[in-house]
Amino acid sequence: MIISSNTSKIKARYVGDYSKILGDVTIGEGTWVGSWVEIQGQNAPVKIGKSCDISDMSMILDHSTHLRCVEIGDKIIASITIGDHVFIGSSAKIIPNNNDPIEIGHHSIIGAFSLVQKSVPPYSIVVGIPAKIVGSTKK
Ligand SMILES: CC(C)(COP(=O)(O)OP(=O)(O)OC[C@H]1O[C@@H](n2cnc3c(N)ncnc32)[C@H](O)[C@@H]1OP(=O)(O)O)[C@@H](O)C(=O)NCCC(=O)NCCS
Repeated sequence: MIISSNTSKIKARYVGDYSKILGDVTIGEGTWVGSWVEIQGQNAPVKIGKSCDISDMSMILDHSTHLRCVEIGDKIIASITIGDHVFIGSSAKIIPNNNDPIEIGHHSIIGAFSLVQKSVPPYSIVVGIPAKIVGSTKK
């Protein structure tokens, strides 16, 4: 596990092997982070709530930019806030495609292998690339 940030902000109950948590990242109590997870908050804050599951190989990036190697396109940076009790499926990615902050509403599910590029309301089930709402976790 590599954590390069203020570790007092990481209250996860578990972080698996080979996961990287970089920059300004906050993780709430009771949240479980699997293996090979990458969370990057070097450009903008990434806040993950309490009692979330961040499954293996998922990725949460505060930027979507390729200006370092090829100067084309806009510099895209966005803060990311994930509410409490969110489940992020295996290999899902949260990557902004504009500078609007991304908010994943509490009690939402992001399906395995999905790509989320914008905010999602609370209690959403979202799947696919790009992710679309296909259901609700509200009973
Ligand atoms: C998102 C998820 C929870 C949905 O489960 P569900 O409510 O039982 O949904 P269903 O399996 O009935 O699928 C509903 C529709 O969404 C599609 N779908 C489900 N998950 C999908 C995904 N991850 N990506 C793309 N499409 C997906 C299904 O193909 C189905 O489409 P259809 O209506 O056209 O047939 C589940 O598919 C998932 O991705 N779970 C994550 C598992 C995981 O990563 N676990 C980590 C290890 S702990």
